[in-house]
Amino acid sequence: MSNFFTKEVLDNIKKNESNPKKLSNFLSKDFCEDLLNFRKSISKKMVDREESTKVPFVFEDSSLTKKLKNDIQEIVGEFFVKDFEPHFITTRFPLRLHADTGKDPNDIIFKNIVLPLEINYKDNDSKKNTSHTLIFKNKWYERSALFTTKTSNNYDFIIKDKDHNFIDIIDIFDFKKKVDQTSNELIEYDKNYFYVDDKFKEYIGSLSKTKRYNERTDKHIKNQKDFDRKIYEKYLTHQPFEDCKSLELDKAISWEPGALMYWDRIRIHSSDNFLKNGIISKTCIALFTSKK
Ligand SMILES: [Fe+2]
Repeated sequence: MSNFFTKEVLDNIKKNESNPKKLSNFLSKDFCEDLLNFRKSISKKMVDREESTKVPFVFEDSSLTKKLKNDIQEIVGEFFVKDFEPHFITTRFPLRLHADTGKDPNDIIFKNIVLPLEINYKDNDSKKNTSHTLIFKNKWYERSALFTTKTSNNYDFIIKDKDHNFIDIIDIFDFKKKVDQTSNELIEYDKNYFYVDDKFKEYIGSLSKTKRYNERTDKHIKNQKDFDRKIYEKYLTHQPFEDCKSLELDKAISWEPGALMYWDRIRIHSSDNFLKNGIISKTCIALFTSKK
């Protein structure tokens, strides 16, 4: 059943499984505001990329986050955060198919918990839209992974081109070679254009040294059944159709600031393609929880 978790751990993980849930208005407007201000006050520790910004925190560091943990535990049950610290995350490019099962075969992993705090729109007209987190019926009992049929390397990154469009660079080292040969000029790469200056070079250099948390695999594909084309067009156009093979959508949970969303960490999940709905970025608190 699993090549990663031990039999006993796996049994315990399964014992705690439940359906994905959302609780609206879990946090008041003021509480959301306070949390966003708290984020600003600790943002020295942030990990800033073009496609996302992560700000880690510790629950015990403030009365605000202590209260938050207590409130969540009243709904979800007692939990611990072990292998990936609690964090605020702002995403500017939608996350793709993955599972946050961690890296510890002895960890009784529990729920993914997400608390949406803020959505930023391109214009007023877009405010009728929202983003969704897609939870698939498919379960993953192996270590944390990003699911893609492009598994030939582990070096892909999302980078903005000269017009601020997000471009999937398949091999950061190949891209870096080209970038390093130029300075202060426009380059063409795979029919996309990038303006290369010192800052850009430095950024690409830093990405090329990044260690990935998630490995890439296509082992989530269990049969040759195509994913539902209509659901794909509605939500998932930020990743190849092929990658969704054999998956079945369970729930598309809509984002409401102040809501509490949670699902089992063994569930394959992803963001929707919020960019096409006029959403520029979205911010939430994300927790990978465990049972002792
Ligand atoms: Fe996730």
